[in-house]
Amino acid sequence: MKRLFKSLRSRIIFFLIVFSIVPCIVLHTGLVATFESHLVNQRLIEINQRCHVVAQELGKNEKVSDSLTTSYASVLNWYSEAYGGRILIIDQNYKVVLDTFNVDLGRECISDAVFKAFEGQEYQNYDRTTEYLEFVVPVRSQIPASSEQRISAVLILSSTTDWIMESFRGTQRIILLLELVILGIILFFALYVSYMLMQPVNAFREQLSDFGEGHRDSVPAVEGVYSELNSITDSLRMTIQRYQDIDRSQEEFVSNASHELRTPMTSIRVLSDSLIGQENIPEETYQEFLKDISVEIDREARIIEDLLQMTKMGKASDTLNIQMTDMNEFVIDLLKSIRPIAASQNVELIYESFRQVNAEVDSTKLNQAFSNLVENAVKYNKDGGYVKVSLDADHEYFYLMVADNGIGIPEEALPHIFDRFYRVDKARSRDTGGTGLGLSITRGLIQQHHGIIKVESEVNKGTTFTVRVPLKYERNEEGSV
Ligand SMILES: Nc1ncnc2c1ncn2[C@@H]1O[C@H](COP(=O)(O)OP(=O)(O)OP(=O)(O)O)[C@@H](O)[C@H]1O
Ligand SMILES: [Mg+2]
Repeated sequence: MKRLFKSLRSRIIFFLIVFSIVPCIVLHTGLVATFESHLVNQRLIEINQRCHVVAQELGKNEKVSDSLTTSYASVLNWYSEAYGGRILIIDQNYKVVLDTFNVDLGRECISDAVFKAFEGQEYQNYDRTTEYLEFVVPVRSQIPASSEQRISAVLILSSTTDWIMESFRGTQRIILLLELVILGIILFFALYVSYMLMQPVNAFREQLSDFGEGHRDSVPAVEGVYSELNSITDSLRMTIQRYQDIDRSQEEFVSNASHELRTPMTSIRVLSDSLIGQENIPEETYQEFLKDISVEIDREARIIEDLLQMTKMGKASDTLNIQMTDMNEFVIDLLKSIRPIAASQNVELIYESFRQVNAEVDSTKLNQAFSNLVENAVKYNKDGGYVKVSLDADHEYFYLMVADNGIGIPEEALPHIFDRFYRVDKARSRDTGGTGLGLSITRGLIQQHHGIIKVESEVNKGTTFTVRVPLKYERNEEGSV
């Protein structure tokens, strides 16, 4: 039952029925009550009028008993039967001279209403709960003996109103039947409307299940029907697009990785084949070839190491070893290790520190990240160029800037330089032993520290990388890579 009510269609049907039935019930109760009271009032007026006609008839004779001829008494009997009640006529001596039930004939009848009727006051009472009515009407003598009209008797008509309600019940049954027909129409209408409203949703659901089963030629979409469905379609399209991009980049990654791994292997094979294929090779040639083979093995090992590092990054198991670190000392040490390479390429390394900086970092991982930035700045520089590394901080972050006046990066390449295996100039990178994984790893490691990295560059003028990392490492929010 709970499950059934969870379906949108059953809810639409439920609300349609509730919102049509409730007004129906209210209308029904109101209508029946109004109709009932109208019917009763109508009958009361009718009986009242009849009482007055009878009283007038009885007043035609001097004595009321003279008017009660056998034929008139039978007329009164007929009236009382017709109204399902009892008629009593009381003369001036408070004696019952006519009782259509023949129970109290000849007895005295003294009541407040009778007294008042002899004083000229009419009495009328209808009790809705007991369904009982009573009329007490004075009979005025019409014999002009005196100027004032004399009251010669009192007429009492009492009756239950069952018979009024009985006739009403028949009408009520017809009303109920009509209402059942209306209810049937509403139910049919609710089913039809819910079906029509649900059609786009059902179509969308079918498209989704087709898509889920592998029919990927079209993205599920139901456009122009409901704005809600349109926005779901848009979000879905974006999500699918994102996953397709991830899929594509995954494929690209695998193909790039295998290509990169194969390149040193091919070189090793060529070198070793040429050694095997020749006879009487001089010792120096052996030495030279084996040195080249060793370089290629190093290269292969580096690629494998980088790939392993990449796959580890972002996983929960890859936790950081966070320690309070003197960042000034950290940068000085880092530059010290790169200084020989810089010197060999005739590139000047400049260090600039604006203040003492202490930060909570994993120094091994940040060393790897920053080393790549400085190494790149040296590698992609020119003879006599410089690399300036500056360290600064505010109360929340520290900033590391690596600026060079090297070859620069073309504008169109800038959005891709953090992509895995991306290199602007493949030949130059290969010569310098680069695989294009460095910046991707650098960005990943900085993000693990909840930091960000930005790049600005102009071809032939130089490149500046700016890194911003929080001074305090927040353990609860893991950085995404
Ligand atoms: N300071 C820089 N000046 C000019 N070009 C740069 C600079 N830093 C990076 N690049 C360009 O961005 C590319 C990507 O750099 P990245 O560090 O990812 O790869 P790599 O240096 O070629 O190889 P790896 O770092 O894996 O050994 C480089 O190949 C180079 O073309
Ligand atoms: Mg690099």
